[in-house]
Amino acid sequence: MLPRIDDGSKSVDMSLEMLTGSMAQGVRSVIFTPHFYADMDSPETFLRRRAESLKRLEDGIRANSLEDQIPEYILGAEVHYFRGMSRSQALEDLTIGGSSYILIEMPFRNWQPQMVDEIMEISRVLGLNVIIAHIERYLDQDRKLVKRLIEDPDILIQSNAEFFIEHRTTRKALKMLTKGQIDLLGSDSHNMTGRAPNLGEAVEIIKAGKAESQLGRIYANGVRIFSSATSEVGDY
Ligand SMILES: [Fe+2]
Repeated sequence: MLPRIDDGSKSVDMSLEMLTGSMAQGVRSVIFTPHFYADMDSPETFLRRRAESLKRLEDGIRANSLEDQIPEYILGAEVHYFRGMSRSQALEDLTIGGSSYILIEMPFRNWQPQMVDEIMEISRVLGLNVIIAHIERYLDQDRKLVKRLIEDPDILIQSNAEFFIEHRTTRKALKMLTKGQIDLLGSDSHNMTGRAPNLGEAVEIIKAGKAESQLGRIYANGVRIFSSATSEVGDY
């Protein structure tokens, strides 16, 4: 949702539309999670680009007097897996709002046991709470490895709203949610067309799918992350 930082929003105006659109769907808090790739960016340049992007957005919010029409927000990152990441002090700078929570994107190539070991090490060695992004994209990976992540009580599992909305996968998504295998929902919104804010739609599907009782857990996890953020909302 941050403007002109990665493959997401192309402009401040698009970001503002995404934020007011999210608000209209009932979203009250947003975590901005631009992509971080260790092989393409240093943490320092990433953090600087992210701060500049936020500055552009905040100038736009003020210029359009939209303060009351957008959700509160904090900064995070979607950190792509890299070997050795469990020993990287840089990870602490990439957490969500300075909290202990960090969003990690697993590789799309074939998973190896060492990759899952590395993720487990992040909580053990660095003391961080790992959130695995869009679990639905990995369901064709080695089942045992996926299961290790899903069943680890210290790891939170996130899925995108799309997993529920896409007819082909709705049943699977509801089943995983009901089994307690999904802890957080993300919009994965990148723009206002193909990947527009869609959490409201997913919530309606969850209610219609008789999985409404799971929403309390999802909300509580979101609240926990927000309330453990040490940086002030928007204060970067
Ligand atoms: Fe991703």
